[in-house]
Amino acid sequence: MVSYKKLLNILKKVEEPDFTFVEGSFPPVFENAEGIIVKDVEGNEYLDFSSFFGVSFTGHSQAFIKEEAKNGFFHGLGDLIPSKEKILLMDEISNIIGNNFKGILLQNGSDAVEACLRSAYLYKKNKTVIAFKGAYHGTALTALSVTYSSNFRERFSDLLPFRAKFFDYSLDSLEKIDSYLSKNQASSIIVEPIQGRAGIKIPPKGFLKGLEKISNEKDIPLIFDEVFTGFGKTGEYFAKDYFKVKPDLIAFGKGLTGAFPLSGCFGKREIMDLWGESRGEATYTFTFSGNPFFSRVALRNIKKIESLNFRKKVREIERFLSRELERLKSFFTLKIKEVRGLGTMWGIELFPPLNSFQVFKRLLLNEKIITLPSGEKGEALEILPPLIAEEKDLEKLIKALERTFETF
Ligand SMILES: Cc1ncc(COP(=O)(O)O)c(C=O)c1O
Repeated sequence: MVSYKKLLNILKKVEEPDFTFVEGSFPPVFENAEGIIVKDVEGNEYLDFSSFFGVSFTGHSQAFIKEEAKNGFFHGLGDLIPSKEKILLMDEISNIIGNNFKGILLQNGSDAVEACLRSAYLYKKNKTVIAFKGAYHGTALTALSVTYSSNFRERFSDLLPFRAKFFDYSLDSLEKIDSYLSKNQASSIIVEPIQGRAGIKIPPKGFLKGLEKISNEKDIPLIFDEVFTGFGKTGEYFAKDYFKVKPDLIAFGKGLTGAFPLSGCFGKREIMDLWGESRGEATYTFTFSGNPFFSRVALRNIKKIESLNFRKKVREIERFLSRELERLKSFFTLKIKEVRGLGTMWGIELFPPLNSFQVFKRLLLNEKIITLPSGEKGEALEILPPLIAEEKDLEKLIKALERTFETF
């Protein structure tokens, strides 16, 4: 067995140094995860309240994944010869989204965002995209064009294919966007219906509806990036249904399979059909697109989301976290600035100099509780429990937060 210390030393030697932050006995090295419990190589057990970046929303290492792994068909021929699973999954997704949307399956959230931006580009033929401050759409170059943080952009800004015009994620922007688009062209408006990585920012009432109105009036496709919010986290499959807004294109990924990289871009037929009839070779494709094993797992994961009665369960988690986190805020008035959230996605904004990375680290190492550091300047702690979290698990989270805030 390779020891923890040895593993960290190997990591330091072989990984590009900007990737994993390593300092002292941080981070632990995980080797197993099942349900809500995660284990590290030293045998420590953790409770996961992050759903691992919002992916393992139905819990880790589901039995259905192991069952599907026995079925034997793992890799397909992408855009050349379809698998049964890919077809059935695309049909299921189209039915869930409604309005006869069609699309493509890809791997990462960044790919899904790229496919949406490029589909909109085929429609409007313009490189300008309306995007929002705080936005996180991924770090591959096309998605990076519309990701806000200079931390991700600064060294590569010369390489970005789209030109983002960033507006505040606030009601005030509606008039400004409207006026901008009266004088300028753009190919799309891309928005996260809840900003995840910005520290769980909930859109002000009327904001998304306002964008829908501008998009319709100016005939500029509205893209909802639902990579973070998709597949149940609002209590609807997609946040568009929670907010009752009809985007023209949707990017999704993360929670689709619960474990594997499978993403997609689905949109209105009149936009997606602009890709044109196949001439024998797809012009936007990847070797692993629509992987049959991932598709099979995604179909089972959607069934699991349904069987966990997600609409009711999400509201229960929401009620619990809203009540208990507000209680914590009223207790730690000098440490917690704001609590915000919706469904299972919650952010605790901290008063500086307290930083979410410090809180995340202490919760992880001392309490064996997994949350996520979030916010553009690390100002918010992100909590995103999996659907299988029970009240007793959530109570442990709150107690651990209490003890941890006491220590600062
Ligand atoms: C809203 C949103 N879009 C896109 C992405 C990028 O996804 P990926 O990391 O799979 O490329 C993320 C990842 O956190 C996200 O939250």
